[in-house]
Amino acid sequence: MDTEVDALRETEEKPVKPLNIAIIGCGGIAQTHINYLKKIPGVTIVAGADINPAALDRMKSAHGVTALYEDFNVMLKKEGAKIDAVSVCTPNGVHHDAAIAASQAGKHVICEKPMAMNAKQAQEMADAAKKAGKEFVIGFQHRYEPRSKVLRDMIADGVFGKILYVRAQALRRRGIPNWGVFGQKALQGGGPLIDIGVHILETAHSIIGTPKPVSATGNTFTFLGNKESSVVSQWAGWDWKTYTVEDFAAGMIRFDTGALLTLEASFVAHIDHDIFNLQIFGEKGGAIWDGTQIFTDFNDYMVNVTPPFIGKWDIWDYKIRHFVEVARDGRKNEAPAEHGVMVQKMLDGIYASAEAGHEVKID
Ligand SMILES: NC(=O)c1ccc[n+]([C@@H]2O[C@H](COP(=O)([O-])OP(=O)(O)OC[C@H]3O[C@@H](n4cnc5c(N)ncnc54)[C@H](O)[C@@H]3O)[C@@H](O)[C@H]2O)c1
Repeated sequence: MDTEVDALRETEEKPVKPLNIAIIGCGGIAQTHINYLKKIPGVTIVAGADINPAALDRMKSAHGVTALYEDFNVMLKKEGAKIDAVSVCTPNGVHHDAAIAASQAGKHVICEKPMAMNAKQAQEMADAAKKAGKEFVIGFQHRYEPRSKVLRDMIADGVFGKILYVRAQALRRRGIPNWGVFGQKALQGGGPLIDIGVHILETAHSIIGTPKPVSATGNTFTFLGNKESSVVSQWAGWDWKTYTVEDFAAGMIRFDTGALLTLEASFVAHIDHDIFNLQIFGEKGGAIWDGTQIFTDFNDYMVNVTPPFIGKWDIWDYKIRHFVEVARDGRKNEAPAEHGVMVQKMLDGIYASAEAGHEVKID
């Protein structure tokens, strides 16, 4: 018997299981979710909710979805029987209520980043999913990059030895969004730290094995975004009058392993060029994420190693397919709510330290 051929035949003949998904928040990033969801056999977008009627119109015209609601609670009530899973793509301030409503309605959830406005909300979301016995996947995608995987695998295998320090940077020289509500603290929870810093923080944290954060120190600075500016920049004309977030934040996290992580995030910084990168320092080796360079010792010499091929895949395809397979096929959840809660605690810690003017403990 040719077992390989039999195994292949079995895979080919497996019927595709259906998964019905509803979208809460049908704006910009929801279009990306929908476009990737549509590529997966068995998946159907069955409903959508958005407070903006124009966004609902687009759900109908662009995606053929007809069960459309301005209130996600009404959608979950009326269409609940049809819905297996929910994608939360609202602004940050709505993630908590939308995700909890979906969990309480017995649906699996993927929630866009950042998980919430703060750790308390994030914990409540994690608890609601757990209580419902449903999956919760946090919507970060850089953790799925090949360059993240190669470093995560090496660290897990001990190639770098004990991890001592991580430097993470998400820096824009002049990149205040001139769309959405990114400048409004009440709706976003903060500025570049929670919007783009969170991406590189989460990536770094997942690469080093999600250690427990125990304390934070940091500061935030607003010096330009809340003023009218005539300086030529890539996204001119942001709403400076409603700008209540930081332009720049820097912080340091201490983990229970003894390792330290510094994070720098900016919408505004007087720097040469934008940076989105992280660097790892271990006892036996180190690495730079962007470009996947590895530094170690070999046969009594220091060597720099650049893997010629680390794999290639579309991280958005990975993120959305991963969620579908977790919700539908029982695949192991690689991005569980607990990881999102820890990330949120680190952000809270840096913001709290900035307010307090000294280091703060993270529980
Ligand atoms: N993973 C990524 O790389 C990535 C990229 C962009 C945005 N995001 C995240 O996605 C989320 C949405 O960002 P966006 O750029 O799509 O914003 P957006 O403004 O384009 O879309 C948000 C949509 O949510 C709707 N909405 C607001 N309140 C609502 C409510 N109570 N109920 C239902 N709908 C509501 C808005 O009307 C809008 O259509 C944010 O949390 C953002 O951080 C993630």
